[in-house]
Amino acid sequence: MTSGATTTQEVRALEWTNNRLRLLDQTLLPTRVEYHELERWPQVVTAITSMQVRGAPALGVAGAYAVVLAAQELQLLPLPEFREKLTHAATTISAARPTAVNLGWAVSCTMGAWDAATDTSQAIALFLAEAQKIEREDIEANHAIGEHGSALIPAGATVMTHCNAGALATAGYGTALGVIRTAWAQGKLKGVIATETRPLLQGARLTTWELTQAGIPTTLIVDSAAASVMRNGKVSAIVVGADRIAANGDVANKIGTYSLAVLAKAHNIPFYVAAPMSTVDLDTQTGDQIVVEERAAAEVSSPQGVKAAPDEVGIFNPAFDVTPAEYVSAIITENGAFTAPYSDSLQVGAKSRG
Ligand code: MRU
Repeated sequence: MTSGATTTQEVRALEWTNNRLRLLDQTLLPTRVEYHELERWPQVVTAITSMQVRGAPALGVAGAYAVVLAAQELQLLPLPEFREKLTHAATTISAARPTAVNLGWAVSCTMGAWDAATDTSQAIALFLAEAQKIEREDIEANHAIGEHGSALIPAGATVMTHCNAGALATAGYGTALGVIRTAWAQGKLKGVIATETRPLLQGARLTTWELTQAGIPTTLIVDSAAASVMRNGKVSAIVVGADRIAANGDVANKIGTYSLAVLAKAHNIPFYVAAPMSTVDLDTQTGDQIVVEERAAAEVSSPQGVKAAPDEVGIFNPAFDVTPAEYVSAIITENGAFTAPYSDSLQVGAKSRG
């Protein structure tokens, strides 16, 4: 199943319609399924910072369409002013969340389409074509990731995943959940163990919702149950997504990923990272250079708006961690599954980029 089409069970995190960005508000899931239609680029920035849209590839697609919205908004300005204000918008959009490389990458690809334009309306058409290409290619990449990843999953497997790297986090199908969807479609999968993923509960709220809709048997555990679940022999493989992969194979992903990787090694469980090549950042040499976003203290002190800690307590809330490459069994991309040494294999993967 390598077609770029999404299947009927899949939800769309975002889509371009009537010159607007229609976006599923993921902060409301699983209680409410509500879409917002965004007409202005600052609304997309707010949607990104408030996590209405999240997940590295989905952030990239949202960023690309935000550039189109900005260009639409500014199109009546004289050319020099149009350029200046659009560049400012692009910089602000890219900076909305720092860790996921896909955001800055997609904004810069979209802005790059400008080079072929002679006026603002032509620029808008080129920006839109580029954003739609990024969206389309992300779905295609995810289907290919699914095929390459499923080949690594043994028959009758139970796969553990963390956070949400599914259709909700991408243009469609998902990366880690793409592997899971394909393995399920191929009859290899017994079920999935999803970690709840504190503090914003992307595993509990989003992954279980998405997998349940796809009819894939899913068990939710609290993050701190992962070690004993692994020790009890219940996990055949762990598959997670990524926000940025450095040239040496170090992987930035949702906080808690590193703990799972260390635990996987201790229990002889393969630990796979599934991500499109657009998440591989060959300009970042090692994970030490990756900027890890810190988010508001209230996400920890008042989870889901319910006060859980005294006001006086200090809070540290990094949204991501970096898993050293030595813990990663393979990085599954649309161009194949790559193994260590990643400084060599990821270069090969990048060269085979379509
Ligand atoms: O803070 P989030 O929800 O944007 O974090 C998402 C993740 O960490 C995902 O695992 C990653 O972006 C990959 S999504 C295919």
